[in-house]
Amino acid sequence: MTSDSESKPQTDMPSFVSTLKSCKHIIAVAGAGLSAASGIPTFRGAGGLWRKYDAITLATPQAFKENPSRVWQFYHYRREKALAAQPNPGHLALAMCSVPSIREKILPGASFTLITQNVDGLSRRALDQIAEMHPELAEEIRSPVVQDSLLEMHGRLFDVVCTSSKCGHREHNLDSPVCPALAGTENVFAQNQPEPHIDVADLPKCKKCGSLARPGVVWFGEIPWHLRDIDVEVRKADLCIVVGTSSKVYPAAGYASEVQARGGKVAVFNVDRSDGDQRADFLFLGPSESTLPKALGLQDDTE
Ligand code: APR
Ligand code: ZN
Repeated sequence: MTSDSESKPQTDMPSFVSTLKSCKHIIAVAGAGLSAASGIPTFRGAGGLWRKYDAITLATPQAFKENPSRVWQFYHYRREKALAAQPNPGHLALAMCSVPSIREKILPGASFTLITQNVDGLSRRALDQIAEMHPELAEEIRSPVVQDSLLEMHGRLFDVVCTSSKCGHREHNLDSPVCPALAGTENVFAQNQPEPHIDVADLPKCKKCGSLARPGVVWFGEIPWHLRDIDVEVRKADLCIVVGTSSKVYPAAGYASEVQARGGKVAVFNVDRSDGDQRADFLFLGPSESTLPKALGLQDDTE
C-alpha cells in the first residue's frame, strides 16, 4: 500500500518535460475543455450544455427520431458557434506535435496521435493554420500521415449524413445556416428559449437521395469512430496526455488507465479536478490553452 503523499501526481513541469523526452509513443485524449478558450461551451463544466439541457433529449438516436426539428436546432447552434470560433494555443500546440518535421524538434523520435472527443473541427483547423503560417509545410500537413493522426472519435459537426440505410451518403458541409429554415434558431439554445417547430421537409436533406439528413456526430448509444486505430495507439502508448475532459464518457475515459496498466505514464491538463486525476503521474491544473504550450516547450516561461 502506498501513502497519499507517495501516490500524489507530480505537478512540476521540469519532471514532466524530462519524462516527455524519454517517451516514444505519445497519445493525447482531448475533450471540450480544450476548446473552451475558443468560446465553445463544455458539457459538464461550469456553464456546460448538459447542465442546462438533458442530453437524452438532444444527443441520442431516439431524440432525433422523436424530434428532429429540436435536435437540428441544437446542432445548428453548435455549428454556428464552431464556425465563429478560432483554434486556441492549446489546439495549436497539439497540432504542432502532429506534424513530423515540427515534432522532431520538440519530441524527437516519438510518434504522436491526437484522439479527440470534440466535434468542433478546431484541431483540424489548427493544422490548416500552421500550413498557412508555414507554406513549406503545407504538403506535409495535408498528407495522410498527419491528417490520419487526428482521430475525431465522436464524429464531426460539419459532416451531414443521410438517414436512409439504403443511401447513407456523408458529406462535409460548412454551410451557414445548414439549411434556410434553421436561420436564426441558434438563439433558442443560446438563450434557453422554447424552440419553434420546423417541418421535417424543411430540415437538411441528403443531396443524393433527398431523405432527411442528420448531423455526422456520434450520439449516446452509438459506436465511436476509429476504435480499431485508437486501440492500436493506446496499446503502444508510453504516455497519455489527457486534456480538458471530465473523463466521464467511455471509452475515452478509460484510455489513460489502459496506458498506465501497461506501464505508461499519464499527464492530466484540466482547469479543475477531474475523474481519475488522483491516479495520474502528472497533474497540471489550469487552462490548457496556457499549460499545454508551456509543458510542450512551445511558450516562453518568462512572459
Ligand atoms: N482548460 C482545461 N480544461 C478545461 C478548461 C480549460 N480552459 N475549461 C474547462 N475545462 C475542463 C472542465 O473542468 C471539464 O473537466 O474540461 C472538462 C470538460 O468536460 P465535459 O464538459 O464533460 O466534456 P468532455 O469530457 O469532452 O465530454 C465528453 O460527452 O456529451 C458528450 O459527446 C460529448 O464528447 C463529449 C463527451
Ligand atoms: Zn441519401
